[in-house]
Amino acid sequence: MAETLRLGIAGLGTVGAATAKMILRQGNTLFSRSGRPIEIAGLSARDRSRDRGFDVSGFTWFDDASELAASPDIDVFVELIGGEDGPAKAAVEVALSARKQVVTANKALLAAHGDALAALADASGVSIGFEAAVAGGIPAIKTLRESLSGNTVHRVFGILNGTCNYILTRMEREDRPFAEILKDAQDLGYAEADPTFDIDGHDTVHKLAILASLAFGTTIHAGETHCEGIRDISLSDIKAAKQLGYRIKLLGVAMRTEGGIEQRVHPTMVPADSPIAQVDGVLNAVACDTDALGQLMLVGSGAGGDATASAVVADICDIARGDRIPVLGRPLADVEPYRRARMRAHEGGYYLRLSVYDRPGGFAQIASRMAEAGISLESIVQKRDLIEGATAAEGEPQPVVLITHTTTEAAIRAAIQSIAADGAASGVPQCIRIETL
Ligand code: HSE
Repeated sequence: MAETLRLGIAGLGTVGAATAKMILRQGNTLFSRSGRPIEIAGLSARDRSRDRGFDVSGFTWFDDASELAASPDIDVFVELIGGEDGPAKAAVEVALSARKQVVTANKALLAAHGDALAALADASGVSIGFEAAVAGGIPAIKTLRESLSGNTVHRVFGILNGTCNYILTRMEREDRPFAEILKDAQDLGYAEADPTFDIDGHDTVHKLAILASLAFGTTIHAGETHCEGIRDISLSDIKAAKQLGYRIKLLGVAMRTEGGIEQRVHPTMVPADSPIAQVDGVLNAVACDTDALGQLMLVGSGAGGDATASAVVADICDIARGDRIPVLGRPLADVEPYRRARMRAHEGGYYLRLSVYDRPGGFAQIASRMAEAGISLESIVQKRDLIEGATAAEGEPQPVVLITHTTTEAAIRAAIQSIAADGAASGVPQCIRIETL
């Protein structure tokens, strides 16, 4: 009989406990699917006495995750502690140095240290499975690292944060503002007590950086991402988007351009009839454009214990089968250095919402500033009904929405600056990129 694959699981929160339970529940199936018995040989978490829905008393317990990582009684170290540094990083380094295979759901760790950990894994002749680090249960890593081997990927993009997608979906459906829906989401457990990491786009940045590295064969560079979150999206924008045939989604987009890799996270106008516009609630989507396959989109649960455990267990089965894929999809010697495209060179359409003083020549002045910046307008509309609650009074600034044809980020910023300098508009204009899909 094939040798048993012995797991050490560190971190028994929602994902860790769900992973342990899945392994216990699916033992026979995992054996027949992977060809090896898989058993839990050690557990580590902060508090042994906590109820996790399964009996931990029969398992060898380690208070220190690094001790578990170094144990000669395990073959695979499953890191489900989380966090960019601290015990998770230390234990993964110990495991790789001790030539243990590693499986992790830790996007923050990979986004910050993925290149160095890949080098350590390569030097030790082991692999790191991280399917669960991006979009929970969606097999995005396997797709990019293995299934698309014959393709050149031009763009990878997606809805990578369930919290943001949930909030935007409910704002639109219920016609209620961001702050109200966020509060509700927190009360219902769909958003963290400190939601910053999700709603300001940082979680999406981490996941996108990992996807971009695999898609384009480069090192991982989360810090090179242009990032805007969803807290400034108003009901006015959501209503205007609807009237103009769009929906607003927080997208992570990475694409190859002549100037390098353009990597950006921001609220995005997507055509209302596009497949990604239909992805609602807490669901995630990962899509890519490739030369051979065209556009591919995977949709599913991006978070939650069972969905994430599903990806962790899939990685464990790959290891049991003996599959060893280089961490970044190719040997490190073939991984290219990352070259960032300047955001100012981004090309695309833009949605601009301005509050404009309603006086003769107001529109004309704005239109001429856009023309001076070389921007061609697709439409310019005064939308009195976009102000929440009421129509703006006479003499008060009125909402005006502009949709541009393809232009550059540099041009739109220049135009916004000149419009502001003219004093024709009040407040900060809202600017949302339109993605061609
Ligand atoms: N907080 C994330 C989300 C899940 O809302 O999608 C974990 O990355």
